[in-house]
Amino acid sequence: VQITTFKNEPFTNFSIEENKQSMYAALAKVKKELGKKYPAVIGSEKVFTEEQTVSINPGNVDEIIGTVSKGNQELAEKAMQEALKTFETWKKVAPAARAEYLFKAADLMRQRKHEFSAYLVFESGKNWAEADADTAEAIDFMEFYAREMIRLSETSIHQPLTKIEGEDNQISYIPLGVGIVISPFNFPLAIMAGTTVAAIVSGNTVILKPADATPVIAAKFVELMEEVGLPSGVLNFMPGDGIDVGEYLVEHPKTRFISFTGSRAVGCRIYERASKVQPGQLWLKRVIAEMGGKDGVVVDETADLDAAAAAIVASAYGFQGQKCSAGSRSIIVESVFDQVVEKVVELTKNLSIGLPEENCSIGPVIDQKSVDKIMEYIEIGKTEGRLLTGGSRAEGNGFYIEPTIFADVNPKARIMQEEIFGPVLAIAKAADWKEAIEVYNDTEYGLTGAYHSKNEERINYALENMHCGNLYINKKCTGALVGAHPFGGFNMSGTDSKAGGYDYLLLFTQAKLKSKKL
Ligand code: NAD
Ligand code: ALA
Repeated sequence: VQITTFKNEPFTNFSIEENKQSMYAALAKVKKELGKKYPAVIGSEKVFTEEQTVSINPGNVDEIIGTVSKGNQELAEKAMQEALKTFETWKKVAPAARAEYLFKAADLMRQRKHEFSAYLVFESGKNWAEADADTAEAIDFMEFYAREMIRLSETSIHQPLTKIEGEDNQISYIPLGVGIVISPFNFPLAIMAGTTVAAIVSGNTVILKPADATPVIAAKFVELMEEVGLPSGVLNFMPGDGIDVGEYLVEHPKTRFISFTGSRAVGCRIYERASKVQPGQLWLKRVIAEMGGKDGVVVDETADLDAAAAAIVASAYGFQGQKCSAGSRSIIVESVFDQVVEKVVELTKNLSIGLPEENCSIGPVIDQKSVDKIMEYIEIGKTEGRLLTGGSRAEGNGFYIEPTIFADVNPKARIMQEEIFGPVLAIAKAADWKEAIEVYNDTEYGLTGAYHSKNEERINYALENMHCGNLYINKKCTGALVGAHPFGGFNMSGTDSKAGGYDYLLLFTQAKLKSKKL
C-alpha cells in the first residue's frame, strides 16, 4: 500500500451551517450516552471495580459524564504482568503492521470526529474549536507516528552507515519494554492518545494511567483501539489515583520507561523516584517528562499592535488558560504599553463566558481544586499588580472564573513566575525591546514564547535569544501543529521530547548495531 505524505487534519469551520448542525447532532448523541460505566482493562479482561471515579461536567457539575473503575496496586501489578507477557510477542510484530493499527484508528476517529469532540466538550469543558483541535491533534499523532515508525524501520535507506570493506553493518531501532504513560487533563485526548500510540507503534507495551478528571475520553480511546483489533495486552488501561497507581508503576522494577506529561511538581517527583534502581531491575529507566510553563508574548513598538493584542488574548485564554503553552505573561515595551493594554482589555471584555456546549469563548476550569488555586493567585495578583478586568468567579453551575488581567506587574512577582493554569494574565512593562526579552527569559520554565515586531534585526535577535522550546514570531504562543511545530520545552518545562517531531520515536526505542563479517 502506498502511504501518502502526512498532512494535518483540518480544523472544522463551525461558522458553516452544516458543520454547526453536525456538532449539535454529535453533542445530542453523546449526551444520551453520558453516565455509563467504564472498566479498567488488563489484557482481554475488563475489570469493574467497586471503587469508582465519577467524572463530572466542569461546566455543569450536576451532569455525570461517566463512572470509571479505579485501579489499585493489585490491579496495577496484574497489568504489569500482562504487559510484560505481551511484550514478548508484540515486539516481534513488523513495524508496518504495528503502524497499520494507528492508521485504522485515525481513520475511525476521523469518521467520529465530532463525537470525540463532544466528549471533550462535556468532560473537559473545552469549547467547540478547542475540542475540535484536540481531536484533530489526536488524529495527527496517529497518522504521523505510524509513518515515523515505518521511516525508522528503514534506517538503511534514511541513515546509511559508513561503508567498511568486508563488512555488512546495519542499525535498527528496537523497542524498550513496558512503558507507563501518565497523561494530563488539559489535552485529554491528543496528549493521552499521542503519548500512548508513540510507545505502542515503537513496539512497546503500555499501561496507561489517564488524568483523574478526564478518564471517560481515555476509556473511549481504549475502546477505539480494541475496535481496530490491537492485540489485547498491548494497551492496558489503569485509571486511578496518581500516587497509589502512578507511583507504584513508576517504581516498579519491570518498568522500562515512563512517559509523563503534567505538572512540574509531579514530573520532578517521578524523575526522582524512577532514578532509584530497585532490586531485580535490569536497566536504568528512561523518563520522558513534559511539564509546566510560564510562557509569554513579547511586543515591541514596531509591531502590528492589533495583531499583537489579539495574539496575547488568544494565548492567555484559550481553554481558560489551561494549556502548558498558555501565554500567561506579556511583556510590552513602554512606548506602546498603554495602547496595547487597552486593546487587550477590550478584547478580553468581549469574551463570552458560559457553557462549552453552547460554544462560549470562556468555559469552566477543570475542578474545584483548580478554582481554589487560581482564586488564591488572583488574590496574590491584587497585591502584585493593577487589576484591569476580571478578578472574580463568574456565574454558572460550574467552575467558572472571569478572564483576569493584571498590569504593571514586577517581573519577579509570583504571578509573573509561577504557573497558575487558569484565565489570568500578568503584564509587565519593559524600557525597550532588549529588556523585554530579558524579562521573558527570567523564568525557570522554557516552553513557548512569541515575539511581535516588524524589525528583522530584532526578530533575529529574539530567535537567537529567547530561550524556549517553541518560539513563534508575530503569532500566538499556543497551537503547535504535529509535524510542523514539534513540541517540547527547556529547563523546568521538561525533557524537550518534541512530540509530533522527527526525533520523537527514538525516545521509545534503543538502537542496535549489527555488524557482520562478509
Ligand atoms: P498533574 O501533574 O496534576 O497530573 C498529571 C498526571 O500525573 C495525572 O494522570 C495524575 O493522576 C498523575 N500523577 C499525579 N501524581 C502522581 C504521582 N505521584 N506519580 C505518578 N503520577 C502522578 O497535571 P495536570 O493538572 O493533569 O495537567 C496540567 C499540567 O500539565 C500543567 O502543569 C501543564 O503545564 C502540564 N502540561 C505540560 C505539557 C507539555 O507538553 N509540556 C502538556 C500538557 C500539560
Ligand atoms: N500542543 C499544544 C499547544 O501548542 C500544547 O498549545
